[in-house]
Amino acid sequence: MTRRAHLQCAVVLLIVAGCSTPRATNEPSARTASAAVAHESPRPSRTLPSSSGQPGVAVGVHGAVATAEANASKVGLAVLEAGGNAVDAAIAIAFALAVTHPLAGNLGGGGFMVVRTARGESVAIDYREVAPLAATRDMYLDAAGNLTHDSVNGARAAGIAGTVAGLALAHERFGKKPWAQLLAPAIALARNGHVVDAYHADELKKAVERMRKAGFDGSTHYYVADDGSYIAEGATWKQPELASTLEQLATQGAHAFYAGELAQRIVAGVKALGGVWTAEDLASYHALAREPLRFSYLGREVVTMPPPSAGGIVLRQLLFASEEWHMREQPWRSPEAAHLFVEAARRAYADRNAWIADPDFASVPVATLTSSAYLHERMSTIDPAHATPSSAIKAGAANGAVESHETTHFSVVDDAGNAVANTYTLNASFGALVVAPGTGILLNDEMDDFASQPGKPNQFGLVQGERNEIEPKKRMLSSMTPTIIVENGQLRAVLGSPGGATITTTVAQLVRALIDYGEPLDAAVRAPRVHHQWLPDQVSTETELEPAIADGLRALGHTVNLATSGRIGHANCIEVDPATHGYRAVADVTRGDGSALAY
Ligand code: GLY
Repeated sequence: MTRRAHLQCAVVLLIVAGCSTPRATNEPSARTASAAVAHESPRPSRTLPSSSGQPGVAVGVHGAVATAEANASKVGLAVLEAGGNAVDAAIAIAFALAVTHPLAGNLGGGGFMVVRTARGESVAIDYREVAPLAATRDMYLDAAGNLTHDSVNGARAAGIAGTVAGLALAHERFGKKPWAQLLAPAIALARNGHVVDAYHADELKKAVERMRKAGFDGSTHYYVADDGSYIAEGATWKQPELASTLEQLATQGAHAFYAGELAQRIVAGVKALGGVWTAEDLASYHALAREPLRFSYLGREVVTMPPPSAGGIVLRQLLFASEEWHMREQPWRSPEAAHLFVEAARRAYADRNAWIADPDFASVPVATLTSSAYLHERMSTIDPAHATPSSAIKAGAANGAVESHETTHFSVVDDAGNAVANTYTLNASFGALVVAPGTGILLNDEMDDFASQPGKPNQFGLVQGERNEIEPKKRMLSSMTPTIIVENGQLRAVLGSPGGATITTTVAQLVRALIDYGEPLDAAVRAPRVHHQWLPDQVSTETELEPAIADGLRALGHTVNLATSGRIGHANCIEVDPATHGYRAVADVTRGDGSALAY
C-alpha cells in the first residue's frame, strides 16, 4: 500500500493548524458527534461499590477520575460536577498536569486518547509527535557512526508537539464546555501557584540536578524558587511564563500553538536551544482521529490504540495467548501463570519490534498480527515447562522501546457513562530537560523512540528496526496503550499506564486480574508486575514480587531481574464494579504519587 493510501485510510479528521475551527473531513460534524456524548444509551442504575479503604481508591456513582497528581484530579472532578462530560474533564486534566506534573504532563509532548461514548461510539485520537522536516535518518550519529545523547537531551531530541492539537480535536469532537473554561483551572494553577507535595518537590529537585549535569542551566530557573533554592514540600510554586502561554491558548484557541505570534516564539525558543523546529513544522502538524483497534477477550470487547502505538497489537497478542493457553486456570499469583505470560510477551515483543511503526510511512500488517490463525501458530511454540531462549524466537529486524517511566496515564468517566483513557508524555522525566525560552513549554525527547541507529544496539542496549527509522513528519513508534473494556455493551474499565515498553504488559496484567480472576481494580493495580520484551532476554519485575513467583520463574529457566527503578508502570485507572455498576477509581499510589476521586 502506498503512503498516500495509508494516509487516506488513517486520517478521519484533521486539526488544521492556523484555522480557528478544525476542519472535518468524512466524519459526522463535530457537533453531531458531540451530541453522542449526551445520555443516549440506557443507563444501568448504580449504587456505591465497596471500597477497600486502601490509599488511592475512590468510589462513586456519578463520575470518577484517576490521575498522577492531586490538583489535576480535583480539576477533573470539578469539571464533571459542573456538568462537563468525560472529554471536557480529560482536557482540563491534561492542561492541569502540564502545570503540576511536569515529569510527563505537557504542552510540548504528545500522546493518545481513546474515547468511548455512552452510546458505544469510540475513537482513538492520535496526537503523537512527528519528526521535524529537517530530521534525517542519521541525525543522532556522530562522525564515527556512534549514537550520541542528542536524541535524549536538549532541543534536538524534540519531536513536533501534538498535545494541544490533540486536546483541541477531542474538544471539537466531543466537548460540551467552552474551550477557555477548560484551560482556566490550569491557568490559575500556573498564575497563582499551587502547593507542591513531597513527591513532586523531590522530582523537581532531581530534574534541576539533571538539567545542571546536562549543561541546561538556562532552563533550571523554571523549577526552583525565586531565590534559586529548591522548591520545598508545601511551598507555593508559580509559573508565570507558562500561565501566559496557557492564557494565549485560552483566548486565541489551540491554533495559536501552531501559527501566529506564540508559534513564532516557540520556534524561536527551540532554535535558540539548538533545535530544528520551523514555522512550517508547527503549521503542518495534524492530530488524527483513528479507528481504535477492537478485539474480543473472554467475551469482553477491548477498545485500544492502533499504530503508531504498538500497544494495541501487543495487547491483543498477549490476551490471545492468555485465552489460548487458558491462563486463567492457573492461580493468579503463581509462577505457572507468570511463565505463560512472559513467554507470550517474549513472542509478542519480537513481532512488535519487527513489524510495527507509523502506518502512514510503513506497511504494518495489523490484520495478520492480530488474527487468530496467525497467533494460534505463533503462541503454540510456548513450552509450559521451560523458558524459550529469545535467540530461538525469530523476528525480522529488531526493535525495542526505551523504558521511560515518566509518561503519564489518566482515566475519566462521567455520569452518562462516557469514558476517556488518555496516555501522554514527554518521554523521559521532564522530557529533553529544556524549556523553550519565553514560553514555559518543556520540550519532549520523543525522537528517542525512533530507531536512531537501525540494526545496532542503542545506548539502552536495544536493537532497532528499519521500519521505525527517522523520517521527516513521521510519528515515532510508541508503546502507550490507553484501553477501554466493554462488557455486555456497557463500560467495564478504563485502563492505561506509563512505563515505555512495560506499558502494554502492565495493561495486559490489569485486564487479566479483572477479567480472568475477578479481582477488584485496586488489587489488580497493587499486584506486583512482571515484564518481558524479547530482548534483553530477561523477566523484569518489581521489588515486591512474591519470592515464590521469582523462584518459580528461575526454576523454569528464566533470568529474573529488578526493573531499573524497582517499579513497573503507574496505572491510574477506573472500573465499573460488576455488582453495583458504581465507579471504583484507583490511583497507583504505591508506585508514586497520584489521586483518585469520585462522586
Ligand atoms: N515514550 C514512551 C512511549 O511512547 O512508549
